[in-house]
Order: sequence, then C-alpha cells, then structure tokens
Amino acid sequence: MKVLGIESSCDETAASVVEDGHRLLSNVVASSMDQHIIYGGVVPEIAARSHIEVITPTIQKALDQARCTWDDIDAIAVTYGAGLGGSLLIGVLAARTLAITKGKPLYAANHVLGHVYANFLTDTSLKGYKMRSAQAEFPMLAVIVSGGHSQLALFEDHFNYRLLGQTQDDAIGEAFDKVAKILGLPYPGGPSVSKAAVEGDASTYQLPKAKMAGKYDFSFSGLKTAVLRLAQAEIGEAYDFPSYKLSERLSEAQKANIAASFEHTAIETIVEKAVEAYHEFGPRSVVIAGGVAASGELRRQLESALPCPIEYPDMKLCTDNGAMIATLGCYMATSGQPEADPYSLDIDPNLSM
Ligand code: KG4
Ligand code: ZN
Repeated sequence: MKVLGIESSCDETAASVVEDGHRLLSNVVASSMDQHIIYGGVVPEIAARSHIEVITPTIQKALDQARCTWDDIDAIAVTYGAGLGGSLLIGVLAARTLAITKGKPLYAANHVLGHVYANFLTDTSLKGYKMRSAQAEFPMLAVIVSGGHSQLALFEDHFNYRLLGQTQDDAIGEAFDKVAKILGLPYPGGPSVSKAAVEGDASTYQLPKAKMAGKYDFSFSGLKTAVLRLAQAEIGEAYDFPSYKLSERLSEAQKANIAASFEHTAIETIVEKAVEAYHEFGPRSVVIAGGVAASGELRRQLESALPCPIEYPDMKLCTDNGAMIATLGCYMATSGQPEADPYSLDIDPNLSM
C-alpha cells in the first residue's frame, strides 16, 4: 500500500510517499523559514502564502521522487491539526481536491501523532538517511517534544494510547525558541541554543525545575523566566531591564554558559519523567518524537538514563515532514480508522492527542 502524506501545519510545505507503513519512497520539504527569520518567529500570513505557492510542485516532486503516478497511490493522508489555521487550510484543501479528483480515500492525520509514527519508518533507498533498524514495538512509551507540544504517552497498540502527562504551559521547543531570543540567537531556537551550548559549561548556573501536581506533567515557563532573570543579573541590571537589549550586553562566554545550563535543565526535566514512566510501565520500546527529538543533548541524556537501548528517526524525519503523515495514514488505513469526507473535512488548529 502506497500512501501520499501532505503536511502544512506550520512553515514547512511537505509531501512524501510511504509504502506499507515502513518504506520511505520520497520525502520533499519546502520551508519558508528564510522569510520568517528576520521576524524572529513564524509569521502565519507569510507561511500560508508560501504554502499556496509551493504545495502543488511539492506534491508532484514527492510523486516523481517515489517514481509513482497517481495510479500507484492507494490513499492520501493530510495533517488537519494542530497547527496554524491558515497553513493547515492549504494542505487540507489540496488533499481534499486531490482525493475527489483522483478518487482516493482520504485520512485526516493528527500532526503530533504523526511525529510518533516517524518511528515506524525503517527502510529507504533515498540517499542521506540513517533509518531505524526495526520498528518500535508495543507497549511503547512516546516522549513527544516539539515546538507546540511536550507530552508523555503510552501506546498499547496502534491508536490505543493514553496520555500520561503534558506541559501545563510552554512546550519545550517554545522554551528553546524564547531563550534563543533572550540570548540574541537566531530562530529556530532549538538548533541555535544547542550550537551555542557546545561552547558552554552546563554546570555554570543552577536553573530551577518546576514541581508539578501531576506526576508526568511538565512546566517550562518558570525555567524561561529564570533564564531572563539570570541574564539580567549577569549584566547587573534590574528585573525591568528590557529582554531585547540583553544580548548586546552579554559576552559570548555568558551566552554559551546560559545556553548550556538551560539546555541541560530543560532536557533533564523531560528525561527524568520519561525514565520514571519507563520504570512504572515497563514498555518494550521508548521513542522520541517532534522537532526537539533532533536534540543531541536529549539523545545523550536518554541513552545514559534508560536501561534499554533506544533508536531514533533520521533528523530529517524528526522536524516537520510529510513522511510521518504518510506513515500514520498507512496505519489508519490498515487499522480500520475512519476515512475523512473529502467534501467536508475541516481543520482543527487546537487538536490534541
Ligand atoms: O516538531 P516541530 O518541527 O514543529 C512543531 O510541531 O512544533 O518542532 C519545532 C521545534 C522548534 O521549537 C525548534 O526550536 C525545536 O523543535 N528544535 C530543536 C532542535 N531542532 C529543532 N530543539 C532542540 N534541539 C534541536 N536540535
Ligand atoms: Zn511538528
């Protein structure tokens, strides 16, 4: 079974063909990131306009790279939430139109669940991918860490899962992005904070971890504020010193040490709870999902704290892509999940797991 996946929830316009839920035949991603960088974050209107411009060629490229014609495609899966409304609309309208005109079944994919499904991709003949050696096994503990979500979920089987806990305020990726702004580092913050952290010493500053009522819940807004206060204190200024002026007064060494201390604490917050959940539920596999899954620090800390081996999706399959949506679509189709109505499928910007 070959499924075309379409993803447009944020600033990436992406399409991919996946075969039988594990073989990556194509993966095409067009990002409008370069148009957002000067604003320090994604501008929804610019993202939506860019999706309109590139979605048709992106889908065609994904078919061409997979050496497929429409006759070879068995189903279409599209992200319908969560994400930016204007961005989601473009992908969903493209998928609805294609489902009707090409006569294909349509599946409405949850973006966050899609990130988890990147862990079911195991083979490809595309160059430059480091694939998992085997699919994740159930029961499976999913550590979901993206720009919009931070969650721990326990999967008994496909589409049979429960949320163990989640962030009560900012997502971890959002915290990376906000700390990057304080330090004057470019958007997206995850990679730039990680890069700065390499030059720093994580033991320079002790940053706080929130104590939560829910055993597996998180909070990152206090940590972000602690970084702001720390930066103000480092340059000898008071709490009302504007955050946008901080970076010009901090030395490169201070920035690197703050980045390293923040990264260490933010990642440790996630890893400690993931390890606790591992011991409580004894899953057969642990997977990481979402943009922050690209973090080297997360991988290092998980590897040293978990008593079991862990495998990761390729970096290109961690950040937003169509392959994870196509993979999820394959399992929706083969697990009897309901098809979406191509005449009425709507977006759901606030969709949760
Ligand atoms: O999953 P994703 O591509 O988009 C959402 O679904 O939100 O995640 C984007 C997030 C951003 O906040 C970005 O800063 C973060 O993932 N990110 C990283 C790294 N690469 C991307 N965070 C930490 N370390 C990284 N290497
Ligand atoms: Zn995402």
